[in-house]
Amino acid sequence: VKQGAVNGDAHKALSEIAFAFDIDGVLYQGSRPIPGAREMLRKIRAHDARYVFLTNGGGSHEDAKFRSLSKRLGMSEDEDVIRNRIILSHTPMRGWDEQMKKQGTVLITGSHPETARRVANEYGFERAVTPADIIEANDKVYPFDNLRESLHKESRPLPDGKIVSNTIDPYSKDVPANALKIDQILVWNDPRDWSLDIQVIHDLLISHRGYLGTISDKNGNSSLPNNGWQQDGQPPIWISNLDLLWKTEYPVNRFGTGAFVEALKGVWAASTGGAELQFSALGKPFRHTYQYAHDRLLNHRGQGDKKRPLKRVYMIGDNPESDIRGANEFAPDDGTQWISILVKTGVWKETAAQREPRYKPAVVVDDVVEAIAWAMRNEG
Ligand code: G3P
Ligand code: MG
Repeated sequence: VKQGAVNGDAHKALSEIAFAFDIDGVLYQGSRPIPGAREMLRKIRAHDARYVFLTNGGGSHEDAKFRSLSKRLGMSEDEDVIRNRIILSHTPMRGWDEQMKKQGTVLITGSHPETARRVANEYGFERAVTPADIIEANDKVYPFDNLRESLHKESRPLPDGKIVSNTIDPYSKDVPANALKIDQILVWNDPRDWSLDIQVIHDLLISHRGYLGTISDKNGNSSLPNNGWQQDGQPPIWISNLDLLWKTEYPVNRFGTGAFVEALKGVWAASTGGAELQFSALGKPFRHTYQYAHDRLLNHRGQGDKKRPLKRVYMIGDNPESDIRGANEFAPDDGTQWISILVKTGVWKETAAQREPRYKPAVVVDDVVEAIAWAMRNEG
């Protein structure tokens, strides 16, 4: 650790500030930890500073992310205090209306169907269905057989004995009572099976009120805005991470969930004659996510067990489009200032063609250790 990062009067200064750490590209690259990150976190903790891990990663449970973070940084698992500091891209859904979560059926896509379903159930979404469940219920939904076997073991019967029928008249509004109806689509992180997921999402977006296998008679009506698509009771889509790129140990940045979204948008535009995909988003850079992180930080009582106001929060990130943009644009009502610090260990690289990122941070530093040192100097 570069010396001087946290010492001297640090304890006092740290009581009025907080840190939001991005994870990929800041604390590690794939399985490779950033040198000094672990010691830096220890020091921050020793001074009872407030911090959260604000990642656009997801598709797993917060506790699983905590375990993988501990393992990759070589921290012991008894560092339990880190657990409730992890905010994944979809964590704010924990706070969504409980009644709404109990009533409807959600389609959930993510890295691993079974994990995504378990996490969704734990969040309170009682009826969560994955694309794997749908092809298990009716293998004609997806005409290619290569995925069926690999997804088979992760599938479950549809809730409440629902079915996906081949004999339904897609234009009839007399839908059988046992037809599967999806009320909401949640795209969690890094869907693996893009073709299946895009097919099922598309089918729901053209459906009569979310009944899979039907087609709304309003769709394609050119006298309606957006050509009639997505405005006739189809399930709304929430996408919890729009990162096009993220950083692993591979030298070239890798595609993230945002790349899946671009593919979905492209297919949607092509199949609807140019309609624009309507969706809501969560994760960085969106305000909702920053407000959630801010509230979490304010609620960390620390050793004094008193609620303490904040003067400044330092967001340390590697992605200008999400981490830096979000912190720059977030101005909480309580007047706390969010300050963005961009590190060079992640997605962003200075090149001859691009000297400056599109969203400019307060400072660009080598790595997370330098970031903390800069923040402490900034506190004087
Ligand atoms: O899927 C992970 C990625 O999009 C970014 O994660 O920690 O850099 O916000 P993070
Ligand atoms: Mg990152």
